[in-house]
Amino acid sequence: MLVAPSILSADFGRLAEEVDAICKAGCDLVHVDVMDGHFVPNLTIGPVVVEAVAKASSKPLDIHLMVENNSFFVDLFAPLKPKYISFHIEEEKHVHRLIQKIKAYGISPAVVLNPHRGLEDLEYIIDDLDMVLLMSVNPGFGGQKFIPNVLEKAKRLKDLIEKSGTNTLIEVDGGVSNQNINDLKSAGVDVVVAGSYVYGSDNYAKAIKSLKV
Ligand code: DX5
Ligand code: ZN
Repeated sequence: MLVAPSILSADFGRLAEEVDAICKAGCDLVHVDVMDGHFVPNLTIGPVVVEAVAKASSKPLDIHLMVENNSFFVDLFAPLKPKYISFHIEEEKHVHRLIQKIKAYGISPAVVLNPHRGLEDLEYIIDDLDMVLLMSVNPGFGGQKFIPNVLEKAKRLKDLIEKSGTNTLIEVDGGVSNQNINDLKSAGVDVVVAGSYVYGSDNYAKAIKSLKV
């Protein structure tokens, strides 16, 4: 299991230190939640702060856009060379076009599905995706309760990926902890995002290790 701690739960007064700490504690990716106050009822950080995160990080960035006007934000964050940019399928009319645009920047594209959303949109784009992010909370805030229907969805998505013969990874975001990590592993999940579980612990290395099942 790859582990991507979400910096949303970090101490923003010491952000560079907090990013460095999870990298040294053995995380695989640094998950950056970009919220615009429109698509979700919360507002986080823009490219100026994410640039500082990128400088402090020895691990690749995983940028999760929770915004209206995805294309604009892709242009804004692409120069920071994240490994992944993921965008919500609920908020995008031209999904295929945006995937191609992210790829053209040399960045791995991912789409995000909210908890209510089925997999039917993925059938014709799965070959183009490096990762699919399944939300296991409603996006907007850290520290929410895990919605277990993501387990069934991940299993179905795994089938779809196997049938199409791609290497697309499955990432799950929201309410992940040592309480559900084994279920996520059994469901075929490859990457977990964990905010409050990692940053709320007093030993980041131990918390990350407990998710590497
Ligand atoms: C929620 C964000 C998550 C959040 C996860 O909108 O996308 O990445 O930080 O936080 P936890 O792990 O605390 O649920
Ligand atoms: Zn996220």
